[in-house]
Amino acid sequence: MFLAARADARWFPPLAHAPESVGPFLAARLAAADHAWVADEDGAPLGFVILHGGVIEHLYVQPEHQRRGVGAALLARARAVSPGGLALWCFVRNRPARAFYAREGFIEAEETDGSGNEEREPDVRLVWRA
Ligand SMILES: CC(C)(COP(=O)(O)OP(=O)(O)OC[C@H]1O[C@@H](n2cnc3c(N)ncnc32)[C@H](O)[C@@H]1OP(=O)(O)O)[C@@H](O)C(=O)NCCC(=O)NCCS
Repeated sequence: MFLAARADARWFPPLAHAPESVGPFLAARLAAADHAWVADEDGAPLGFVILHGGVIEHLYVQPEHQRRGVGAALLARARAVSPGGLALWCFVRNRPARAFYAREGFIEAEETDGSGNEEREPDVRLVWRA
C-alpha cells in the first residue's frame, strides 16, 4: 500500500532507500508503534495508519480506494486514542493530503525547506487539538 500510493502520486520524491527496505522499515515502525490499524473490505486491505507518541507516522490508502472515506475512518481511530491531540509531517507538494487534513481539522503549524528530512523535500507540520 505504501509503495502503491507513492507510485500513484507521481510528484512524491524518490524513495530515500531501496524499495526492498520498505517492508522491514515499516515492520520496525510497527513494532515501536503505540497503535496501528488496517482498514479492510472482505479481508482485502484498503489502507493503514501507524501512530507513535501522538504522531501519525504513516497513513496510506490504496490508490483505487482513495476518496471513499477510508482515510477519515483510520484517522477517527487515531483521534479516539489521542486526547492530547495529533501531529504529523506532510510534504508541501502533497496537496491531496493537505486538503484531506485541513478538512479533518488539522492546522499547518510549521513549514521547513526539507533540509531536515531524508528526501530533502520541503514539508509542513500539521497539528490537531482534541
Ligand atoms: C491522503 C489520504 C490518506 C486520504 O485518504 P482518503 O481515504 O482518500 O480520504 P477520505 O476519502 O477519507 O477523504 C477524502 C477527502 O480528502 C481530500 N482529498 C483526498 N484526496 C484528494 C485529492 N486527490 N485531491 C483533493 N482533495 C483530496 C478531499 O477533501 C476529499 O474529500 P472529497 O472527496 O469530498 O473532495 C490518501 O489520499 C492517501 O493515501 N494518499 C497517498 C499517501 C499520502 O499522501 N499519505 C499522507 C502522507 S502525510
